Amino acid sequence: MLSISNLNVSFGGVQALNLTHFELKDKELRVIIGPNGAGKSTFMDVLCGKTVPTGGSACFKGTNLIGKSEIEIARMGIGRKFQKPSVFEGLSVFDNLMLGLKGKKGCFSSLFFKLKPEQKNRIISVAKRVNLYEKLYAPAGSLSHGQKQWLEIAIVLLQEPKLMLIDEPAAGMSDAETEKTGELLCELAQNNGVIVIEHDMHFVKQIAQDKVTVLVRGEILTEGSFDEVKNNRDVIDCYLGTPESAQTRK
Ligand SMILES: Nc1ncnc2c1ncn2[C@@H]1O[C@H](COP(=O)(O)OP(=O)(O)O)[C@@H](O)[C@H]1O
Ligand SMILES: [Mg+2]
Repeated sequence: MLSISNLNVSFGGVQALNLTHFELKDKELRVIIGPNGAGKSTFMDVLCGKTVPTGGSACFKGTNLIGKSEIEIARMGIGRKFQKPSVFEGLSVFDNLMLGLKGKKGCFSSLFFKLKPEQKNRIISVAKRVNLYEKLYAPAGSLSHGQKQWLEIAIVLLQEPKLMLIDEPAAGMSDAETEKTGELLCELAQNNGVIVIEHDMHFVKQIAQDKVTVLVRGEILTEGSFDEVKNNRDVIDCYLGTPESAQTRK
């Protein structure tokens, strides 16, 4: 689904990312871990067209993404959920989803736009998938932090992406919300490719059905199953600390 080669990003001469090789299979759920500043978010920025790399290629279903605009990439089927939630707090969950359906560009026209029954049904079905059906008419500002993250995931889902990029979804969530988020991501991976950046190793263990990639200083340190990565000496030295502290790391 995704094939990266020699992807390079520098900011003012400082190398933030240097991915020689990265592959994602169809419907794979990949978790990316690594210390702060490792280049994880920068990688997602490149994949969604927000950052233009200094060099290299990123082929999505055979088409190179590099040089394409954020809108073109979204149309190709890559959806991104950013680290910080950015929903419209004063609007209901339903209205936020309605804007998501139309794209935030035509904000006002969307609000006065009459939804077709099938569009309304899609909003309801997406809200159910992310556990927000009960909150459909509540203002987004009244949601818990975790629920706001789910709303953002729902907005990305409405675009029907083939590949979803999700940056630190469990940050600031309660344990119960984290667990539900893990279930949701695993369910999404049944039909879509999903790349998740995450710090919470307990959560990573829950969702890492396929490979985990460890990024350090912009480069891939290693890739493997959760257990392989967790017990890898270099990963312990560069990121996790001792295996004991890795298990309790949150
Ligand atoms: N827009 C930017 N301008 C300059 N430097 C940046 C920018 N975005 C990220 N960086 C730098 O690139 C490196 C990787 O950052 P980032 O991708 O955010 O790391 P991570 O998400 O792994 O914590 C860091 O050194 C960061 O300071
Ligand atoms: Mg980041």
